Amino acid sequence: MIKAGAKRLLRHLGYEIHRIDAPVPSTSGLKNHHSQSDPTLIAPIWPLPRLSRFSDEEIRATFSRYDLWHYAYEFEGGLSFPARHRNAGLLEEDPMRALQRFSHLMPDLIESQEGTLKGKRVLDMACNSGFWSFQCALLGAEVLGFDVRPELIEQANLIKSVTGIKNAEFRVLDFWEMSPQTLGGKFDVVLNLGILYHLPKPLEVLERTQSIARKTILLDTVVLPSESALIKLTWEEPLDIRCANTTGVVAIPSKSSIELLLRHLRFKHWFEIPIRTRDMPKDYLNGNRASWLIEI
Ligand SMILES: C[S@@+](CC[C@H](N)C(=O)[O-])C[C@H]1O[C@@H](n2cnc3c(N)ncnc32)[C@H](O)[C@@H]1O
Repeated sequence: MIKAGAKRLLRHLGYEIHRIDAPVPSTSGLKNHHSQSDPTLIAPIWPLPRLSRFSDEEIRATFSRYDLWHYAYEFEGGLSFPARHRNAGLLEEDPMRALQRFSHLMPDLIESQEGTLKGKRVLDMACNSGFWSFQCALLGAEVLGFDVRPELIEQANLIKSVTGIKNAEFRVLDFWEMSPQTLGGKFDVVLNLGILYHLPKPLEVLERTQSIARKTILLDTVVLPSESALIKLTWEEPLDIRCANTTGVVAIPSKSSIELLLRHLRFKHWFEIPIRTRDMPKDYLNGNRASWLIEI
């Protein structure tokens, strides 16, 4: 009674009371079987290779067919193209972003695969124009990338033909259509990068990711800078090629809520990939983005 009265009084004064649960103890370190030493550094294969039959002019013409490009690409011979987005910002200012993310994410992933991706079946969810797919393919994996936007899969296939990379395939697919049946079985490694926070149901996203992974998941997401296990709903419009493809609610988790969801799904091991250098995109340094390596 007293509690309800106090709540009413506070609401009258313009305040709301919400219960915030205590943060979940982090499993980082506890479950991290790699935590004793840093993994071996690994450099991206960059600039991308190119087949000699494509001239600079032909490649330029290919890139100019599209207004928007998510990644800044560079090809052998000094040919480079900037990222282009509808709402310029963080990504345009930072042509090193994808390469810095590679240096952050890949060493732990490769270590978890006994030092090589050779022969591993890799799924690149929401692959955009394929930066991660191409890097994994160049490291010897058999890659399938999918994205909901047909124009991005066209871009990925154009880069595939310019580079001559054979072991990466691309498909137009909505995340919610994905299953071991639609994709011909499970994958040794699943890349869930930059997609969780463009979708409305994080538990289901992780459940579906788990259902298609045989061994390892690499998760990279925007996070709420809060100690508590919160998930914030926000509205997203499909304004750019990095956004959700439909208008509606998307959900942004805090780190603690990711830890809680992983615990709920009974994963075997996981750890948050530590920031080991200041040579990183600002959103990681500011605590607005984080990554996990998860073992099924
Ligand atoms: C921020 S980008 C991330 C690209 C890449 N995975 C990375 O981390 O560098 C988000 C991508 O998700 C794709 N996307 C959005 N909603 C999707 C859905 N329902 N199914 C599949 N892809 C989706 C977008 O087209 C875009 O390419």
